[in-house]
Amino acid sequence: AIDINNLRAETGLITLDEGYKNTGATTSGITFLDGEEGILRYRGYSIEELAEKSTFLEVAYLLIYGELPSVKEFEQFKNEITVHTLVHEDIKKILDGFPSNAHPMGVLSSLVCTLTAFYPESLDPNRSADKVNLSIIRILAKMPTFAAWAYKNEVGHPVNYPDNSLDYCSNFLKMMFALPAEKYEADPVVADALDKLLILHADHEQNCSTSTVRIVGSSKASLYSSVSAGINALWGPLHGGANQAVIEMLEAIKADGGNVQKFIDKAKDKNDPFRLMGFGHRVYKNFDPRAKIIKKAADNVLSKLGVNDPVLEIAKGLEEAALKDPYFVERKLYPNVDFYSGIIYRAIGIPTDMFTVMFALGRLPGWIAQWKEMREKNEPIGRPRQIYTGSKIRSYVEMNKR
Ligand code: ACO
Repeated sequence: AIDINNLRAETGLITLDEGYKNTGATTSGITFLDGEEGILRYRGYSIEELAEKSTFLEVAYLLIYGELPSVKEFEQFKNEITVHTLVHEDIKKILDGFPSNAHPMGVLSSLVCTLTAFYPESLDPNRSADKVNLSIIRILAKMPTFAAWAYKNEVGHPVNYPDNSLDYCSNFLKMMFALPAEKYEADPVVADALDKLLILHADHEQNCSTSTVRIVGSSKASLYSSVSAGINALWGPLHGGANQAVIEMLEAIKADGGNVQKFIDKAKDKNDPFRLMGFGHRVYKNFDPRAKIIKKAADNVLSKLGVNDPVLEIAKGLEEAALKDPYFVERKLYPNVDFYSGIIYRAIGIPTDMFTVMFALGRLPGWIAQWKEMREKNEPIGRPRQIYTGSKIRSYVEMNKR
């Protein structure tokens, strides 16, 4: 047990805040979030307005460089990203070394980290702003290629090369789903829903993966290795796994006969640890502003694709029943962004273990912006303290005397 009275005497004054629930690690001008009021803004612009009027690449520019781009700035940014979508052929050999059951998040973080080997100048701690910018362009351009290839590795299909005539999301969808013998064209409703989803996930201030990117980068590690670490942090089920948990819950309801009310009653039962996945949020206590926006996109996708999937029918039934139930209404437990993102991904054919990869694609501009901000402020290396709770000093005992 920690002797609080002795903390100061033994260690000097240290603030103990496990999980950093109330401890700021930095100042930041990127994202404003007010959980009580349900407000999320990137660089001062509301998420509602950005989701409605902007595109993912424009939002990426805004997050990374601080301002909305002019027409010329945006054209240049988009063109630079487009010409860097291709990856070195040797990366395909690395991909071939992964077994087909490799989790796509592991493949993605590994391939992102290999960029340090293909572009070793990114390791230079005194890199110029131009070099940093090139790293930013490269990682934004190549992540969708890596993500689609991680999926192709899993299903055993040949990889598709980027199609630079397409926009960011349509190109990604084509690399994911096109097969050599078939003509593929991304559905604009699907590409649009995906673009919105990526915007909604683009930054969320100092969450686990973003804090990881900042702390790795604080040692002056490269952008590529910092983002690779962020991908690994996002991989954990407590962070990026929520939308996967939603689909798994819906599948469990289906396997049990599809009785939605039975699971709602289970979630209300205080003696049962079961909770409705995709309902409630740690930060957003009234509503999740992102969920409102994405619900509309989910409805559009489902009606356009006319998806006939019992799991998605269950999702609809669950949403309707929970929104009417006093238990959920009183506690302000509304479907969160993960509930709807899981539905959209399922409807457009993205397999469940790729959901977190999609989250990583969306979060990438946030990671880059936070890494860049931290480096530009020349923040000191991140090095939390601890309260030591182990043995007092004791003498070494020879092995034969233990
Ligand atoms: N189903 C049933 N009851 C719930 C749920 C739920 N999903 N969420 C909260 N409650 C209940 C709690 O039991 C509690 O009831 P009580 O007042 O009678 O004790 C009340 O609502 C308040 O909940 P808290 O536990 O205080 O909320 P907390 O902030 O701790 O939890 C969390 C938030 C973890 C998101 C929770 O709502 C939950 O477990 N949701 C399901 C999992 C999920 O969707 N997680 C992803 C969130 S998005 C993200 O983090 C990336």
